[in-house]
Amino acid sequence: MGGGEHVPVLLQEAVAALAVRPDGTYVDATFGRGGHARAILDRLGPAGRLFAFDRDPEAATSARAIGDPRFVFRSCWFSQLADEIGALGVDRVDGVLLDLGLSSPQIDDPARGFSFRADGPLDMRMDPTRGESAAAVLARASARELTEVIRDYGEERFAQSIAGAIVAARSVAPVVRTRQLAAVVAQAVGARPRGDRSQDPATRTFQALRIFVNRELAELALILPRVVPMLATRGRLAVISFHSLEDRIVKRFLASASQPFGGDPRLARLAIRTDALPPAPLALVGRAIRPSAREVAANPRARSATLRIAERTPHPVPAGFGAAPGR
Ligand SMILES: C[S@@+](CC[C@H](N)C(=O)[O-])C[C@H]1O[C@@H](n2cnc3c(N)ncnc32)[C@H](O)[C@@H]1O
Repeated sequence: MGGGEHVPVLLQEAVAALAVRPDGTYVDATFGRGGHARAILDRLGPAGRLFAFDRDPEAATSARAIGDPRFVFRSCWFSQLADEIGALGVDRVDGVLLDLGLSSPQIDDPARGFSFRADGPLDMRMDPTRGESAAAVLARASARELTEVIRDYGEERFAQSIAGAIVAARSVAPVVRTRQLAAVVAQAVGARPRGDRSQDPATRTFQALRIFVNRELAELALILPRVVPMLATRGRLAVISFHSLEDRIVKRFLASASQPFGGDPRLARLAIRTDALPPAPLALVGRAIRPSAREVAANPRARSATLRIAERTPHPVPAGFGAAPGR
């Protein structure tokens, strides 16, 4: 079952952020179900090109339906993207879009295990052909590791109690279903006041496991510095994030890459004259963009979205750029 449609978030704003030129070459690194990709293709002329990527095999299936000679799709993770683009013979692009997180069909399909709203196997892998499922992580991680994952990636106050409850539950039976995990978390958290907007008690734990299983933050920290050298002068980078952990990485990276020390925050702490430092490879474009109240009302998934935009300057990318991605 493929779940419902995906309504792209900040669609017009993200496409405007890329400042699409009809004859330009663009990268959509998070094809999903192709909402943004189709809007980019609509703005391209016959000489324009769009290279799209995603690690989800269902995104690959959806990409086959595009059937446009200006469009190429490859399955890959962010961490493989620079090599994939190189293998396609592309050396400069005019814009890169990253629309992070999950698509609605991924969330809505119980067989993928991302949501506790319906029962399904606890998989949670965007690419089910690689890595450990959430159930495998729950079976092998120590209570301490589980506490760290749930605390750091879910920003969950009751991480230790939840981790303890998971370890107790798995000594009775393996924790392998979404509703089973949701029940374990609900029992661990009990009637404790949460102080947030009455989310389901399992929301933060599910977010944490999903981020961990898919190495989402590490993948993001890797791709950001790697796309900068691909961008032609005045080429745009547009990133839509969906939670504060992602947005912090994007914000810090862009802030650091748009200063004369070329993305190495260690240099900023030294008292070196800025004109003696390599000029910045990126310039920020405007402030962060949030969805309108109307968009959030129509599409609750847009609620926590933030779009950040930067433009490539004419300056070379400094040696060692991206070695310390500003975390
Ligand atoms: C929010 S959806 C993109 C939706 C898309 N813009 C659309 O309009 O249909 C995010 C997509 O990025 C993919 N993705 C997330 N992290 C990834 C990574 N590290 N490597 C490759 N794909 C990733 C997910 O599989 C998902 O399909």
